[in-house]
Amino acid sequence: MAIQWFPGHMTRARRQIEEKLKLIDVAIELLDARLPLSSRNPMIDQILQGKPRIVLLNKQDLADPKATAEWVEYFKDRGLDALPIDANSGAGVRELAPRCRALLADKIEAQRARGVNPRAIRALIVGIPNVGKSTLINRLAGRKVAITGDKPGVTKGQQWIKTAEGLDLLDTPGILWPKFEDQDVGVRLAATGAIRDEVLHAQDIVYHSLRYMAPRYAAELNDRYQLAIEPDKLDLDNPDEIVALMEGIGRKRGCLVSGGRVDLEKASQLFLRDLRDGKLGRITLEQPDLRG
Ligand code: G4P
Repeated sequence: MAIQWFPGHMTRARRQIEEKLKLIDVAIELLDARLPLSSRNPMIDQILQGKPRIVLLNKQDLADPKATAEWVEYFKDRGLDALPIDANSGAGVRELAPRCRALLADKIEAQRARGVNPRAIRALIVGIPNVGKSTLINRLAGRKVAITGDKPGVTKGQQWIKTAEGLDLLDTPGILWPKFEDQDVGVRLAATGAIRDEVLHAQDIVYHSLRYMAPRYAAELNDRYQLAIEPDKLDLDNPDEIVALMEGIGRKRGCLVSGGRVDLEKASQLFLRDLRDGKLGRITLEQPDLRG
């Protein structure tokens, strides 16, 4: 992922989406089910300008199902239909077109009443880099589509991708930026691999991730690394306790240096790989009630 977001790029990305909004009936906002708010563009409501919208919680295969159900409720409370999907396997994806039709039911009905045969629903997928936009487009298209980033001034040359479900998709998704100036958001994005490892140090990412995960996913951590986390006894404000967990993980994974000390950097990198590959089980990195 090579995008560096500067104000000029944000303005351009925003304009490009605004151009496309004129062409579509519904926006499909793609979020990462493991961190729905952190993977969300901070200006999305303004950018979409009241366009009918469906939220997709992608990568649900990697997220905690209980937390995903809570997130669906969170969005519902805010008037948004949210659908968990896995664009890789296709799970949940068939629900998308019916949900779009339901969202546009009044418009479709009004067309019918005027004797107009409703055409296919036109949609645009928007989301931050790495959230699965290309994977979803390929899945909906039923084939591999060459998806290129937008170039200034080429909006007019866009193609519609027809899908079997009566949904026409713009072939270039809208690429948005996350709220990266927030340190906690940055850590969560880095933990899932959505932003490159050079931006934040692996040990910092792991420290903060473990601080969040230890009380909530103790069983998963204990199981994989033979730790003995007791959620009731954790003191999350004591950095030594978190570092001790990192050392425990390192020992289990054989990250030792001379003198029997743990190589925390190596341990952190291995832990991140496990987390991103789903080796710890299905983990969600933020909860609706903690984010307000
Ligand atoms: P983008 O267009 O929004 O930038 O994202 P893209 O589709 O390229 O997907 C980014 C990564 O996320 C890809 O992995 C893709 O396979 C993975 N992905 C997309 N949807 C899902 C999903 O529902 N579940 C899971 N587990 N992964 C998903 P990659 O490692 O970058 O590439 P590759 O492994 O596919 O080669």
